[in-house]
Amino acid sequence: MIDTHSHLLPGLDHGCPDLQTAVLMAREAAESGVSTVVCTPHLPEWDEGVVGSAGLILEKVRGEVTAAGIALELRLGFEVDLGVVAGVDMVKLAALTVEGSRGAIILEMPYYGWPPFIREMIFRLSAAGFVPVLAHPERNERVQRSSDLLADCLKAGAVAQATAGSLGGAFGRDAERTFFRLISEGMISLLASDAHSFRREGWTMGPMLRVLQGKVSREDLVVLTDSNPRKLLAGERPAEVNPDTGRVPRMGRTRRKNGR
Ligand SMILES: [Fe+2]
Repeated sequence: MIDTHSHLLPGLDHGCPDLQTAVLMAREAAESGVSTVVCTPHLPEWDEGVVGSAGLILEKVRGEVTAAGIALELRLGFEVDLGVVAGVDMVKLAALTVEGSRGAIILEMPYYGWPPFIREMIFRLSAAGFVPVLAHPERNERVQRSSDLLADCLKAGAVAQATAGSLGGAFGRDAERTFFRLISEGMISLLASDAHSFRREGWTMGPMLRVLQGKVSREDLVVLTDSNPRKLLAGERPAEVNPDTGRVPRMGRTRRKNGR
């Protein structure tokens, strides 16, 4: 598996607190079958210091992980706030893409509201050769009410990435329901951990896969956690995944527009 969203790098955001924890997180990932982790510290605003130091911290973590005998490839990326994308030029944005991917950029979706410019932003990024990845859209209250806005973004060139944290209860039942609903609607192309620390409430790939066993076919899980992430890292657009909807649970009522 390849985990395309993790806050494994210490000292850059509210994720991993220190080098020792980073090694524990790396070991847990490797033991659960992850071969590559894309390290995606939050970037709430353009910060030259964070962007510059992330590479140095990554090198330090790589050294510690290797010294600990853990077979895990680490790549650098960022979880980029939409305000950053709106405010900086394409050259700066290129510095925020997933290392080696030729354009994959992880965008943090807001939890509330829906920026009116997002569709245009995605279209502009796609036209410039980026592959915009929308992180955890299942946590957004507008998406929880209706898939229409997200569908527009996918048509404009985005791909959607659901994350394990949404199944842990920390973001409520609506996030969990929407996680499954978006999968059943074929809108999710990537599954990732969004790990923030060591063994924090199921925010890792292993527990997520255990929850999804029997609900999503083994073949689809391989696409969502391995072949699609591989495509993303190779600079290709991940494939759509339309699972057997009979398997994916419909958790409670599905709220549609004006139905909240
Ligand atoms: Fe994240």
